[in-house]
Parts: sequence; C-alpha cells; structure tokens
Amino acid sequence: MLRISKMFYFLLIALMLLTGCQLYRPVPGYLYLCLFLLLLLFALRLQSDRSARIMQRELELALRRTEQLETVSQMAASVAHEVRNPMTSVQGFLQLMSRDIPSEHAHAMYLKVMEEDLKRISTIITEYLNVSRISGGMLEEVELGELLQNTCALLQSEANLRGIALTLDLPADSLRLTLEPGGLKQVLINLARNAMEAIGESSGTVTLALEDRGNTVCLKVKDTGPGIHARDLPRIFNPFYTTKATGTGLGLAISKRIIEEQGGSLAVQTEEGKGTTFFLHLPKHPFPPSDSVRRSVEK
Ligand SMILES: Nc1ncnc2c1ncn2[C@@H]1O[C@H](COP(=O)(O)OP(=O)(O)OP(=O)(O)O)[C@@H](O)[C@H]1O
Ligand SMILES: [Mg+2]
Repeated sequence: MLRISKMFYFLLIALMLLTGCQLYRPVPGYLYLCLFLLLLLFALRLQSDRSARIMQRELELALRRTEQLETVSQMAASVAHEVRNPMTSVQGFLQLMSRDIPSEHAHAMYLKVMEEDLKRISTIITEYLNVSRISGGMLEEVELGELLQNTCALLQSEANLRGIALTLDLPADSLRLTLEPGGLKQVLINLARNAMEAIGESSGTVTLALEDRGNTVCLKVKDTGPGIHARDLPRIFNPFYTTKATGTGLGLAISKRIIEEQGGSLAVQTEEGKGTTFFLHLPKHPFPPSDSVRRSVEK
C-alpha cells in the first residue's frame, strides 16, 4: 500500500504535469479541481499523521521517565532496606556500651548523641520504606494538626542549625482525614527541606499551614526564599531535574506521585525575590484507593 506521504508527492507531480500539458492542449477545469481536492485531503492526512506521531513519541518519553523513576525508587528502597539491618546491631551494641560507662564520663554523652542520631536515621529509613511500600503504607485516620506538629518537631533541629524560623499556622478546629500518614509526612519533609535549602545562608521563615476548604483540605509549605526562576518552573516536578550541586531531583517528583496516589494534587506559586508556596490539596472524603494503596491495605 502506498504511504500517505508518497501519495501526496505523487499527486503533486501529477498536478505539475497537468499544468505542463496545459501549454500544448487545454485541460478540463474539473480535473484540476479533483486533483487539488485530493491534494488537500492528503495534506490534511499527512498533518494528522505527523501530530499523532509526535503525540506517541511524547507518550513514550513520559512512560520511559515514569519507569526510570520507578526503577530508581525501587533500587533506593532496597538499599534502605539493607541498611536498616546492620544499623539495628550497631544500635544494640551502643546501648550495651553505654551501660558500662558511668553517666558523668564524657564518652557517655558521645554515646547518647550517637544513639539519638541512629534513631533518627532509622526513623527516616522506616518512613522512606513506608512511602516506597516495601513495608506497606497503611491507611489511618489522622489528625492533621498533630501530624504537622510532629513534622515540625522532626525538622526543628535542622532549622535551628540553619538559623531559619519554622512556624505553624493551624486552624482552631481539629481536622481528621483518612490517609497514609507516612507518605504525607515524607512529602512535607521534602517540601520543607527544599524551602530551607532555598533560603540557604540568609535568614528566613518556613511556615507549615493547614486550611479547611469545605470538601478538601489544603496544606501549605511557604518560604521567604528567592523564589523559583521562570525558566525552572515548568521542570521542577520532572524526575532528576535539579538546580543543586548535590541534589537528585527526585524530591518533588516522588512527592507529587505520593499525593496523587492519595487522591490529591500538588501545586506551586512563586514570586522571584519574595518566596515560594507549595499547595497540597487533599480530598476530605474517602477516595477510591489506587492499586498500590489497595494492595497495601489488603495485606
Ligand atoms: N521552595 C523552593 N524554592 C526554590 N526552588 C525550589 C523550591 N523547591 C524546589 N525548588 C527547585 O526545584 C528543584 C527540584 O526539587 P526536588 O526536591 O525535586 O530536587 P532537589 O531538591 O534538587 O534534590 P533532592 O530533593 O534530591 O535533594 C530544585 O533543585 C530547586 O531548583
Ligand atoms: Mg528536594
């Protein structure tokens, strides 16, 4: 079968030949009209074929990106899983050692700091595994104000070290939602860390806020940092897109996926020189769980 593009060029040559024949003997007008209409038809088909090909290429690209993200996330999850085991024995031995050292000895303080830091690493790994569903993220009824307070407590020491003020803006009434708390906490930590990294060395404020919006709730992570450049804005949710020397560029891509899996959406508003706010919208009413959520609940 002749391809549309070949047919188009064939008709174009026929039209040119017909115009050449016109020099020797008159050619009926309807022949011109027919050829012209056919040319137009094939030109339209050619155009629609090209658009379909472009769309297919874009879809393939998006699919490849998602697969890439999935692979990296699975690899990271297995590494996290393996790291957790030796950490347990280190924690155990530290506890044994601290029993034999008198509390007034300087080494007792070092051991305590090591134990606390290991506990923090262990919490981070557990949360990460919950998010990547290796250990199963369960749906729970959560008081959102409390979850924001706990997240703030986790971030407080990092904010203190950077000299950044961390504030909470909560509604008077309690707001309860059924969701996966581990995933939501991880997203808030990702967003707040980005906010602190954006403020960098200068002084600034990061605010975690909660708003009741009728059928949905809105959680905000707001910073007084430099904002996001218009050139970067369309790409910040793409996996591996980073403007940082040591960033992986996965924080926002993973956060967006987690929120969408919980039936919500993640949006951003930014003004250069003034700051950035990430808006996390979650539906109040139970949502049809995505396959992965359903699987982990059924386990
Ligand atoms: N609050 C913010 N203010 C300014 N820029 C931001 C903010 N949050 C995100 N960005 C921009 O979005 C990019 C992507 O963020 P993302 O969290 O996905 O990756 P990252 O922070 O660069 O790397 P990682 O999260 O792995 O450390 C960042 O490199 C940064 O340029
Ligand atoms: Mg980040």
